[in-house]
Amino acid sequence: MRAYRAALLRFDDEGRPVYDADGLLVVGPEGTAGEAGSGGANGASGAGRIRVVRAAGPWSALKDRFPGVTVEHLPGRLIAPGFIDLHVHYPQTDVIGSPAEGLLPWLEHYTFPHESRFSDADYAGQVASFFLDELQRHGVTTALTFATSHPASVDALLGLAQARGLRLIAGKVLQDRHSPDGVRDETEQSLIDTEALIQRWHGQGRLGYAITPRFAPSCSDAQMQGAAELAARYPEVWIQSHVAENRDEIQWVRELYPDARSYLAVYEQFGLLRERAIYAHCIHFDDADRALMQATGAAAAVSPTSNLFLGSGFFDYAAADRQGMRYGLASDVGGGTSFSPFHTMLAAYYVGREGHTKAGLSLAPSHLWWQHTAGAAQALGLSGVVGNLQPGCEADFVVLNPQATPLLARRSAQAANLEELLFSLIVLGDDRAVQAVHLAQPA
Ligand code: GUN
Ligand code: ZN
Repeated sequence: MRAYRAALLRFDDEGRPVYDADGLLVVGPEGTAGEAGSGGANGASGAGRIRVVRAAGPWSALKDRFPGVTVEHLPGRLIAPGFIDLHVHYPQTDVIGSPAEGLLPWLEHYTFPHESRFSDADYAGQVASFFLDELQRHGVTTALTFATSHPASVDALLGLAQARGLRLIAGKVLQDRHSPDGVRDETEQSLIDTEALIQRWHGQGRLGYAITPRFAPSCSDAQMQGAAELAARYPEVWIQSHVAENRDEIQWVRELYPDARSYLAVYEQFGLLRERAIYAHCIHFDDADRALMQATGAAAAVSPTSNLFLGSGFFDYAAADRQGMRYGLASDVGGGTSFSPFHTMLAAYYVGREGHTKAGLSLAPSHLWWQHTAGAAQALGLSGVVGNLQPGCEADFVVLNPQATPLLARRSAQAANLEELLFSLIVLGDDRAVQAVHLAQPA
């Protein structure tokens, strides 16, 4: 066991922040204290034991409960849950900052040509390694990521993630129509490949698989049906896709499915809405769509830097809350412009403030933070596993330095309460504020 003394942030079951200005986080192998057991319930067989949170709370209340345990004292630092990126495209690491007249030209001119390079497994491995370095540098310890349509692009990423002990969920993209040579796959083979990848990777250590229809326009009816059949056969496996991001995209879906009530209803009619289904964007929704998300347990990956960069629109937080729809935050690199959770949370704040297309509101800093940690975990069906530092959670955490830059130090020193401290990090922080990243399953 090991303990860390610093300011400590975590969340209660209602998503409210729980904060100890002088806290103690005690982590140790899961199971009974001192027991030399196996990986246990989280399935970490063989590859090293998972460390979990054994206790978290005020230092004064916990300090005598763990005699003999080494305490690392980190004065002036904040310990917080590792961040969760709910939607990202690892093959688009080098697509960041590609200007275009909106989503569809961006896909055509930059994204599809670039993704075609991932037929080369060595190239995929190089990008995957850089991508995982970026996640870790920025304090992201769990991610749900698209690969490309090439099965080897999944193997490249998940093999490296496993070696590092990161909790990664990924899937081979399904796109058998309206896609250029080099990324278009073939219906039957794409489904065979998907099932083989599920069997190879899902539940291996901390890894998971996500069935990944790119978006309705790129998948034939047969491919959508096949994806849904796999999703029904493997209920623990995730689903990830895109919906209602851009007006031209929505018009295209309307032409392809004139009888569907909405874009989201297309996924419903194929059976692709359920728990553990994560849909990126969910911007141009009506209340019936939001209610459908809520009723099925599907969740939105809110991707504010991407939505601002591509000019897609503004996620309506107030409407989502009214319908009880689940959501969490995502970078959506490479439509998104940053791997930094701080940048994403700040962009989410801007999106919330926008009051011309919807009600504008001022999201609380702790709520922005929750969306990128415990809220994202809830969206993934991983509450109590990651995204929080309550006892039993996997011990993925970051040590943040509110003195990392002169301006951040100056502003955070004047923070009168937790919300002001968190907001100083959200507005002024970046990777320089991430002093250390601890994984539950060190490499
Ligand atoms: N819709 C279909 N594919 C993509 C993609 O790669 N990025 C974004 N932002 N939207 C998409
Ligand atoms: Zn995306």
